[in-house]
Amino acid sequence: MAILVTGGAGFIGTNFILDWTATEAEPVVNLDLLTYAGHPGNFERLAHPERHLLVRGDLGDRELAADLLARHRVRAVLNFAAESHVDRSILGPAEFIRTNIVGVFNLLEAVREYWAGLPDAPRAAFRFLQVSTDEVFGALTPEAPAFTETTPYAPNSPYSASKAAADHLVRAYRHTYDLPTLTTNCSNNYGPFQFPEKLVPLLIVNALEGRPLPVYGDGLQRRDWLHVSDHVAALRLVLAAGRPGETYNIGGGQEKANLEVVEGLCDLLDRRRPRPDGRSYRSQVTHVADRPGHDRRYAVNADKIQAELGWRPKHDFQSGLAATVEWYLAETGWLENVRSGGYRDWISKQYGVAYD
Ligand code: NAD
Ligand code: TYD
Repeated sequence: MAILVTGGAGFIGTNFILDWTATEAEPVVNLDLLTYAGHPGNFERLAHPERHLLVRGDLGDRELAADLLARHRVRAVLNFAAESHVDRSILGPAEFIRTNIVGVFNLLEAVREYWAGLPDAPRAAFRFLQVSTDEVFGALTPEAPAFTETTPYAPNSPYSASKAAADHLVRAYRHTYDLPTLTTNCSNNYGPFQFPEKLVPLLIVNALEGRPLPVYGDGLQRRDWLHVSDHVAALRLVLAAGRPGETYNIGGGQEKANLEVVEGLCDLLDRRRPRPDGRSYRSQVTHVADRPGHDRRYAVNADKIQAELGWRPKHDFQSGLAATVEWYLAETGWLENVRSGGYRDWISKQYGVAYD
């Protein structure tokens, strides 16, 4: 028996696999297309490499998924695979539709067929966990209560719309075919192995290299930040004890304006790695054009997972961010490896500056 993880070479999937293989003998089959966001080198540090099998392929390749499910007698699928960056979805939505919607549909079809053919006991114990986002709920006004599991979906970006579509398919497969699905809607993650196109690692890298720290618009947009290890712990609980057909919100209750995040990071770096000229990294902050359709605020109410499954985040934002800064300061080799020519092209296109 094994679990099948899709998109496990990305940020959250890598953290999940490192955690899982450190504590479970049950192998993980990792189906990942290894796009710009997937990094097989992450697994060179596995303590038990024999517990992990990386297969390069598309989650939407039905034949491949069917073969992996049967060959490894998979008892659960965790779907992390996605195009995940909002700004990329604005500049080029097609890949988001292909992977996040059509890919998930094909994966669900392969899973449904496999699951339907299982004997009674493994059929009842089987789980399909869809790793989703709080962004499917759309934007909150400043005074609105945080998103709950019953907040209506109102996605605003091509990314969040594609995730919402996938979540609806997962819901329909439960309702129509009785597939034992679970869906989680998590807030913004930060921590080790996050590709430096997302806010936190982008700021760390740019700060250390003396580049501008780009703040979209007024920087007063708010996000609910969660350390990735707390997300991983929540996913493990949901997989083990979540009720099929249910959705679970996951969030740290650490809501911050983007400017607070930027300034907090500058202050940490000022102490940890002062600039040679003695000025603060805050001097590198640069307001740039706002993201089109930028959601002003996300906040997650995680009462359900706390009450039902006893999940509590371990990190507060300050300690989690400090640990993340330490990780990036130590992992210059990782950063070097993941920033290919494609990375330079992306930064030039998105921020309109030459990147050398
Ligand atoms: P990521 O972009 O770092 O990693 C995505 C992974 O999926 C990469 O390894 C990539 O190679 C792989 N992939 C892309 N297209 C694929 C395809 N067609 N077939 C197989 N593999 C493919 O993303 P992440 O930040 O690790 O997010 C993982 C999941 O969690 C996503 O579904 C995302 O929507 C969700 N999520 C992310 C956050 C966050 O803050 N990062 C928060 C909530 C939910
Ligand atoms: P991001 O990490 O892209 O996550 P998401 O858009 O999924 O929440 O961005 C987090 C916040 O930071 C979001 O409000 C957009 C903002 N942001 C900037 O201000 N500048 C940047 O260069 C980036 C990448 C994001």
